[in-house]
Amino acid sequence: MPLNKKMLAALNDQITMELSASHSYLAMAGWFESQNLPGMAAWMQMQSAEEREHGLKFFEFVVDRGEEVSLGALAAPQAVFGSALEVFETSLAQEKAVTASINNLYTLANAEGEYEAIPLLTWFISEQVEEEASVDQVVEDLRRAGNDQQLLLMLDRELGARKGEGE
Ligand code: FEO
Repeated sequence: MPLNKKMLAALNDQITMELSASHSYLAMAGWFESQNLPGMAAWMQMQSAEEREHGLKFFEFVVDRGEEVSLGALAAPQAVFGSALEVFETSLAQEKAVTASINNLYTLANAEGEYEAIPLLTWFISEQVEEEASVDQVVEDLRRAGNDQQLLLMLDRELGARKGEGE
């Protein structure tokens, strides 16, 4: 059965949103590299790769349903920041926007009777809880570190040790 048109448009928008998040995290990685914080840069690169994977999960769902993928334009992401804390606060705001969008998709899927999309969206709802929690933890750590460069470097090393999903 073809996808409901509203659902298809929302899923295509979600692909673009995930790819925009990937783009944005890559810009953040670039900024951390420019600040000689390689651990945070690596964390952001990994996050960027995860967001691309998220986009591909929605891409595959649309393709598996026999529908056409339609990608939107990617805006130039913010590339200059005042501090590591500002970067992670920007990341947290981005994750909250993604969570709201996934929740809207879930509501739409139920309203339109698109029950086949529910398992995929349920996976994303859990994933967003983890994503927000991990970014929120870094924001808290950076707030506590304040202007202490030693603590910033320790945190950089700690974040550089991040493992990818399933590792
Ligand atoms: Fe794919 Fe971080 O939301």
